[in-house]
Amino acid sequence: MEPAIEIRDLRKSFGTMQALKGVSLLVPQGDFFALLGPNGAGKTTLINALAGLSRPDSGVLRVMGHDVLKDYRAARRSVGVVPQELVFDPFFTVRETLRIQSGYFGLRHNDDWIDDILFNLQLADKAEANMRALSGGMKRRVLIAQALVHRPPVIVLDEPTAGVDVELRQSLWKFIQRLNQKEGHTILLTTHYLDEAEALCRHVAILKQGQIVAMDEIRHLLQSYQSESLEEVFVSIMHQHGSQGDQ
Ligand SMILES: Nc1ncnc2c1ncn2[C@@H]1O[C@H](COP(=O)(O)OP(=O)(O)O)[C@@H](O)[C@H]1O
Ligand SMILES: [Mg+2]
Repeated sequence: MEPAIEIRDLRKSFGTMQALKGVSLLVPQGDFFALLGPNGAGKTTLINALAGLSRPDSGVLRVMGHDVLKDYRAARRSVGVVPQELVFDPFFTVRETLRIQSGYFGLRHNDDWIDDILFNLQLADKAEANMRALSGGMKRRVLIAQALVHRPPVIVLDEPTAGVDVELRQSLWKFIQRLNQKEGHTILLTTHYLDEAEALCRHVAILKQGQIVAMDEIRHLLQSYQSESLEEVFVSIMHQHGSQGDQ
C-alpha cells in the first residue's frame, strides 16, 4: 500500500533563510502522525508545500501516490488542510462558505455531509450566521469544516487548537478520532500541546530549524528516553540539538 504522505528531500528557502533543509518523511495510510517543533521550525512551510500552496525549491511530495507538482488536482483532492491562519470571506454564511468550498471540488449535492460536519463540530446553530459575526473559536471550527467538505482521505491540521477553548478541543478530537479510527482517514497534526499529540498520535516527527531531529513511534521514543511524557522527550531532544525549544 502506498504511503498517504511521501516527502523526500524537501528544500525551501526564503531569500537566504533555509526554512526546510532536506526533509524526508513517510506517513502510512490510516496513521495519526504528529509533526512537532518550536516556532519557526518549518512546520507550516512543509504543510503549505504539501497542500500545493507554495512551490518547494526541490524535493518530492506525494499525497496518496499523487505528485503534488505534476498531478496537482488529484493530490489536492486527496488532502484537506486546516490552515494555521484564519482567512475567510466575511460576507458569506457558514453554510454558503461550505457549499462554495464543495463547489471547488465539483460536489453539488453535499448538504447531508455538510450537516453531519456542522453537527459534529457543534456548528449546526451557526449554519446561517455570517462569517464576520462568528467568534475566533467558531471561525476555527469553520476552517476545520472547510477542510473536510470533500471527504479527503488525508487530513492535515496546522495548530487547529491554538487559542481554542477546552470544549471545542474535546469535541474536535472526538470527531477527528472518529474520522481516523472508524473511517480510516490519515491525520497529520501540528500542535504546541504535546500532551494532545501524546494522547492522540501514533508517530511523531520533530523538526528543528528545517531538519528532522527525531522520528519514531511515540511509545518507542518514550521507551528509548526512559521518559514519562512526550514533553520531557521533546525538551531532551531540543537540548541535544543545540538550544532549548521555545514551545
Ligand atoms: N513567506 C515567508 N517569507 C519569509 N520567511 C518565511 C515565510 N514563511 C516562513 N518563513 C520563515 O521560515 C521559517 C519557518 O517558518 P514556519 O514554517 O512558519 O515555521 P513553524 O510553522 O514551524 O512555526 C521561519 O524562520 C519563518 O520566519
Ligand atoms: Mg506554523
